[in-house]
Amino acid sequence: MNKTVDVLIIGASASGLMCAIEAGKRGRNVVVLDHANKAGKKILMSGGGRCNFTNMDISADNYISHNPHFCKSALSRYTQWDFIALVCDYNIPYHERSHGQLFCDDSAKDILNMLLSECAHAGVDIRLNCSIENIHKENDRYIINTSLDDYSAESVVIASGGLSIPKMGATGFGYNIAKRFGHTVHPTTAGLVPFTLQPDDKAWLAELSGIAIECVVSNKRNSFRENILLTHRGLSGPAILQISSYWHAGETLSINLLPDVDIETLLKTKQQTQAKTHLKTILAEHLPKRFIAALLDEQLLNQPLQSISHDRFKTISKQLHQWQIKPNSTEGYRTAEVTLGGVNCDELSSKTMESNYSTGLYFVGEVVDVTGWLGGYNFQWAWSSGWCAGQVV
Ligand code: FDA
Repeated sequence: MNKTVDVLIIGASASGLMCAIEAGKRGRNVVVLDHANKAGKKILMSGGGRCNFTNMDISADNYISHNPHFCKSALSRYTQWDFIALVCDYNIPYHERSHGQLFCDDSAKDILNMLLSECAHAGVDIRLNCSIENIHKENDRYIINTSLDDYSAESVVIASGGLSIPKMGATGFGYNIAKRFGHTVHPTTAGLVPFTLQPDDKAWLAELSGIAIECVVSNKRNSFRENILLTHRGLSGPAILQISSYWHAGETLSINLLPDVDIETLLKTKQQTQAKTHLKTILAEHLPKRFIAALLDEQLLNQPLQSISHDRFKTISKQLHQWQIKPNSTEGYRTAEVTLGGVNCDELSSKTMESNYSTGLYFVGEVVDVTGWLGGYNFQWAWSSGWCAGQVV
């Protein structure tokens, strides 16, 4: 015997819980199913355990999608200020970090507990450890067969996220359902992910593991100024994660290691005023010594400025302002924060997230082809898209 519900949501995390809260508040009978043993696992692991839950400065420019306009409606209907107001209602302490990023002072648990508490007030039933076996449509209702119960629902919301961090329960479930109901899915790749290096670069850079440098990292499509972090596996840090979402395999990155200094001019000036000073002494005022020693020729570094030609200064400047690095690959979904690509936005309503092909079917959050930058943008998309669907399901 099917259990009859108004709204069945698959995925008990950021977007699914937000949708459930809103639908529940409207008096809808809502069930949320998740195959994980705990709701909101990605919320708990986010922002290093402090959840970067939104950003002070949200716009469509912070998102990547084949349809760059799609996210605008949802982001303007449920904004960062709406989410911040909810966080304030719960007296959750938070702070702002660089680039407008908002983090919990204490723990990401505060955000998850807030969502679960809102769900409880709205009468939402969350059922975990539940495998979804089949979904089909019969006479305008969806029949969902699961390992726990079989359901008949007027609306089904797919909030099952992307492919990043499979060990946390990420699956391609949402993409498969989308295709089954006639949708196209833009090819997916790992985003906000560290790079692995070619063997030659890995050999010398691995030795420098732990060094962080504020840089501007660029490719043909974008440029980010933040830290890069050298790790024993390759390159990481916020600037690297950001550019990774714009990187195409085989492409070389250009890294300005000294964004605030014109090193060629500086070296020429110092040649006049500190002629006997070694090159390495000047460079060490701007970059970690170990990094310089590994990047540049040892003999050159030990020369006094007076014995170095202007042509050589130009070469050094190019090495430091346009350090070229060709990643081997990315670390993939294993460590990626997000999945690029997903359910084609052109086939969904930007106001409600409803499928253009199957009335009563909705896609929210990361499963949709909307991917945010690092900085709280992905959660804001999950809140906004979940909220929009929650108004109509
Ligand atoms: P999400 O992936 O959160 O949830 C999907 C749910 O569906 C999961 O509970 C899963 O178990 C369930 N599910 C999947 N397949 C299923 C199936 N077959 N059957 C049943 N259930 C299924 N973003 C940000 O803005 N600020 C931040 O600080 C961070 N930090 C961060 C750190 C790390 C390590 C990662 C991996 C990611 C982030 N992110 C982030 C990204 C952010 O976590 C992500 O964009 C949102 O959680 C997406 O929310 P969704 O609800 O769409 O999917």
